[in-house]
Amino acid sequence: MSELILQCQQVSKHFGGLVALNHVDFDVSCGEVVALLGDNGAGKSTLIKCISGVYRPEQGRIIFDGKDITGHAPSEIRDSGIETIYQDLALAENLDVGANVFLGKEKTRRLFGIPVTDDEYMRREAAKVLDRLDIHIPSLKQKLVNLSGGQRQAVAIARALYWNARLVIMDEPTAALGVPEQRKVLALVRSLRDQGIPIILISHTMQDVMEVADRCVVMRRGRVVANLPKGEYDVEVLVKHIVGAGEMSAAS
Ligand SMILES: Nc1ncnc2c1ncn2[C@@H]1O[C@H](COP(=O)(O)OP(=O)(O)OP(=O)(O)O)[C@@H](O)[C@H]1O
Ligand SMILES: [Mg+2]
Repeated sequence: MSELILQCQQVSKHFGGLVALNHVDFDVSCGEVVALLGDNGAGKSTLIKCISGVYRPEQGRIIFDGKDITGHAPSEIRDSGIETIYQDLALAENLDVGANVFLGKEKTRRLFGIPVTDDEYMRREAAKVLDRLDIHIPSLKQKLVNLSGGQRQAVAIARALYWNARLVIMDEPTAALGVPEQRKVLALVRSLRDQGIPIILISHTMQDVMEVADRCVVMRRGRVVANLPKGEYDVEVLVKHIVGAGEMSAAS
């Protein structure tokens, strides 16, 4: 087993009386793609929000690269190398591709002593990283609002790579995309993995999961109910865990 980069130990999170996470243990090793599966409301997004610092768990610990990051601020967690890409991406619609790769960390230069954003530099750097990912966006001067869903995902992934993310979390990255764009995003997931970056992928699309995951973790009602390496699952097995084998046989 390779080195663990992320360890969630006994993580619990409640919303009022609702137990969204119930003593969840969840690990990611260096270089692997872990699919996080589960029915609606299983607790997947809540878990990744605890990892990315959006929520603070009431119990348990989250260790990243040997450091306890439990309850740290989202910006601190991002700076430590965890990049989270949500379906409703936190990108700036009215800025161009370069500016979005640099979002929050804009490069400036001085013009007559006054700091201005160095758009050319940011576009040049963005072009290099997009190239590394084999992504072709016709003009990097395009505002994000004019890009397709898949191209936006690509920009978010490029940003993660540019800032040396050491773990990328994707919450349903292909949910809103057409089939060709889904293919491209999956190719990007592979490309990130080939560069040695571990990924947590949340998806309801079994085909995506089967294609890219090295391991599947299934959650149900706030608990982890299965942890299956490649070769130990197929669609049928995953669906059984997702819906609960007991409930399935009771229903049939
Ligand atoms: N901010 C919140 N306030 C109250 N309840 C919440 C909040 N966020 C999530 N929940 C509840 O916690 C449970 C887990 O939700 P979560 O969003 O983690 O599920 P999920 O597995 O991501 O589902 P989906 O596949 O539908 O995205 C659900 O019952 C949800 O209603
Ligand atoms: Mg969710």
